[in-house]
Amino acid sequence: MPGFISPEEGLEWLRAGKVVALPTETVYGLAGDGYNLHAIAAIYALKGRPSTNPLILHYRNKEASDVDVEWTPWAEKVAHHFWPGPLTLVLSKRSTSRIPSSACAELTSVAIRVPSHPIFQTILSQYPNPLAAPSANPSGGLSPTTSQHVKRLLPTVPIVEGGTCIHGLESTILDGRFCIPRVLRPGAISVEQIEAVLGHAIDRAIPNSVEAPGMLTSHYKPSKPLRLNAQTILPQEGLLAFGPPCTYSPWTLQLSLATCLTEAAANLFSALHSLDLAPCKSIAVMPIPHIGLGQSINDRLTRAAWDL
Ligand code: TXA
Ligand code: MG
Repeated sequence: MPGFISPEEGLEWLRAGKVVALPTETVYGLAGDGYNLHAIAAIYALKGRPSTNPLILHYRNKEASDVDVEWTPWAEKVAHHFWPGPLTLVLSKRSTSRIPSSACAELTSVAIRVPSHPIFQTILSQYPNPLAAPSANPSGGLSPTTSQHVKRLLPTVPIVEGGTCIHGLESTILDGRFCIPRVLRPGAISVEQIEAVLGHAIDRAIPNSVEAPGMLTSHYKPSKPLRLNAQTILPQEGLLAFGPPCTYSPWTLQLSLATCLTEAAANLFSALHSLDLAPCKSIAVMPIPHIGLGQSINDRLTRAAWDL
């Protein structure tokens, strides 16, 4: 049983076409060689992920991605500003690209990003190919922001320890193929930050829409029911607080007492994992303002609360 491994051992596993969990600045990723069909197949199998949901390819820098994608001028501008960091761009895949079509769910586009986590960067700098890496959780579940989450969610996968993910929320995904930018998934970079770089407003993701194939309306789900905009709690409910708790629950987790949205985003998945394991029967969440990162937090919470 591999358990925790060093970055050097992680490289060995990747070279052998195997899959490892790696830390990123957003959430832990389940990484495999982005040009290796077998590694791609192993990622889908381990996550139980539908083949219709494409993966994100991670590169050491923008230049390394030029062989695989075609750039638009504004996409280059935002990449230059936010990379390395939690921004993903969907671009047209070059016909000569070595990325297997199974990694892209047979689409003609591919999602790419350059992560900033020092361990992921070190591994990329010593690996010749891009790494495909979805979040390291079973499909549809809560994303992992610590190695302990990964260990619990995917016990057979070797993990490179990298501490707690600083952003705690997945990358923001933009469709970079056309003249007009469009948000496909709100994430760790707020839409306002991107607009400030571009100098104009951009199309926002419609709340609870399915813009990227993986944005299923039901996603990021804990194992128990979750209720939004709670002003008080019901018997046996745990409380996910934002600011001073609206009421008392023996199972209270705080997103940010100071109502800081950056802090709340960083704590979101960790708090949901803890409440999922606590003896409460369901989870009530206090209202989160729908501005800046609050839009990304509310996107995840709405999908977590969705009852199919
Ligand atoms: O922060 C992140 O982005 C993390 C870390 C590990 O990098 N990764 C991550 O991957 O969140 P995943 O697989 O959990 O989510 C990727 C999302 C999915 O919703 C998928 O549908 C979308 O990206 N996506 C991938 N390729 C796409 C494409 N060509 N067009 C539109 N959406 C795409
Ligand atoms: Mg995911």
